Amino acid sequence: MLDLLHTTKTHDESRQGEAVELAPTGKSDGRKLYIESYGCQMNFSDSEIVASILIDQGFETTKDYKEADVVFINTCSIRENAEQRVRNRLKEFEAAKNRKPGMIVGVLGCMAERLKSKFLEEEKLVDIVVGPDAYRDLPNLINKVEEGHKAVNVLLSREETYADISPVRLNSNGVTAFISIMRGCDNMCSFCVVPFTRGRERSRDAASIVKEAQDLFNAGYREVTLLGQNVDSYKYTPKVEEGQEPQPTINFAKLLEMVAQVSPDLRVRFSTSHPKDITDEVLYTMAKYENICKYIHLPVQSGNSRILKLMNRTYDREWYMERVDAIRRIIPECAISTDIITGFCTETEEEHADTLSMMDYVKYDFAYMFAYSERPGTLAAKRYEDDIPEEVKKRRLTEVVNKQLEHSLERIQQYVGKVQKVLIEGYSKRSDSDYCGRNDQNTMVVFPVDPRFKVGDYVNVLGESCTSATLIGRIVD
Ligand code: SAH
Ligand code: SF4
Ligand code: F3S
Repeated sequence: MLDLLHTTKTHDESRQGEAVELAPTGKSDGRKLYIESYGCQMNFSDSEIVASILIDQGFETTKDYKEADVVFINTCSIRENAEQRVRNRLKEFEAAKNRKPGMIVGVLGCMAERLKSKFLEEEKLVDIVVGPDAYRDLPNLINKVEEGHKAVNVLLSREETYADISPVRLNSNGVTAFISIMRGCDNMCSFCVVPFTRGRERSRDAASIVKEAQDLFNAGYREVTLLGQNVDSYKYTPKVEEGQEPQPTINFAKLLEMVAQVSPDLRVRFSTSHPKDITDEVLYTMAKYENICKYIHLPVQSGNSRILKLMNRTYDREWYMERVDAIRRIIPECAISTDIITGFCTETEEEHADTLSMMDYVKYDFAYMFAYSERPGTLAAKRYEDDIPEEVKKRRLTEVVNKQLEHSLERIQQYVGKVQKVLIEGYSKRSDSDYCGRNDQNTMVVFPVDPRFKVGDYVNVLGESCTSATLIGRIVD
């Protein structure tokens, strides 16, 4: 269902189960690492940090878990089915472990953090449990297991940003990359497990972010996406060096500008924007720089103010609409996408209808839509009864999904007959005679290969037809 509506999967578990493969580093001692990631893009980015740490220890990677010495699964806890998927996958690893004595199986990420050592009791085959702030400890934990112990480190940190670790780009197309700019979340939305699994919000050193963007550009990359659960609350005060004047604090608008200035040929995207925090300053910065893509992911969750209050989102329907109006005023061509939860505790039919009418108001370009899934330990689980029957949640979800299909189609149709600047990201999934890439607004565009242009080039594409998820066209001069 989701795949119908999305061209990019930035933060749901739909992009899952991908094995990774790396070029050997030359200093390998023959130990092989397999790592598989689930969940949001932050998790995929973290796997690139983990790979970097272990390659430094002499590991090389493999895309076949059956031949690996260490198998890691980087997990997500956001909804119950995300966790179920991981448990099923662990069962598959069990057979491989039985065939290859000594194989180490580790659980990383949000589920590791949520379940902690309970994991070792529940899943006997798991040897290592490591939370998202403890990856520097992995070499030590692997040693412990090799000495015959089980190993757990789920300490959360107030400082860790892995700023100094150069991620090893996994599964890369060599053109687009993600850069983590912050970790954790301080928001405590009542439905959400992330503050518990990822800890307190902290921002990464701005200079290290700009350097990473510059290094990527120098290596041929042409698009970076700045990642955080709430990028608009990014805030970093540079450390004062001896003999230097104190530097002003860098907010998200400033950081965006610094990254945009790396090169006019480097596209800059970001995710996620929280409606309570996105400022006009950010919008004006987006309008000012041609290379900051005109696309904002602005999750609404619900269109009803009472439900938003129960969700602890700290904005109401009117506030959200005003932010959408500001986007339309300052960046008229901007695409907007959202996340929606149906059937949150006590949601009435009228309140659900408010979500549908909010969708009509905004006409989102894309949406990620979910039925509410109660997560243990969250504020909602403690305070409210999960009282909407599963079939009602699902029916409401279907209504939301159907509406979004109409809106996605309507939005994408505006590009038919128009010329779009597209960054070629690779060959289309369906055919090697087509390229694919995205326009500024994040719409997927597919067009026949033209030998004058290669992956990583910008081209002008005339939109000729579309589905609700893809624009189909051809290169024009
Ligand atoms: N930081 C982002 C969200 C990250 S989680 C933000 O604030 O928007 C991604 C999405 O998963 C959320 O936006 C929400 O729509 C959905 N989600 C989170 N917890 C959920 C739950 N318990 N049940 C269903 N969907 C949930
Ligand atoms: Fe979860 Fe809310 Fe933080 Fe997003 S802002 S990660 S929904 S607590
Ligand atoms: Fe991301 Fe899932 Fe954790 S959405 S932050 S991997 S709970």
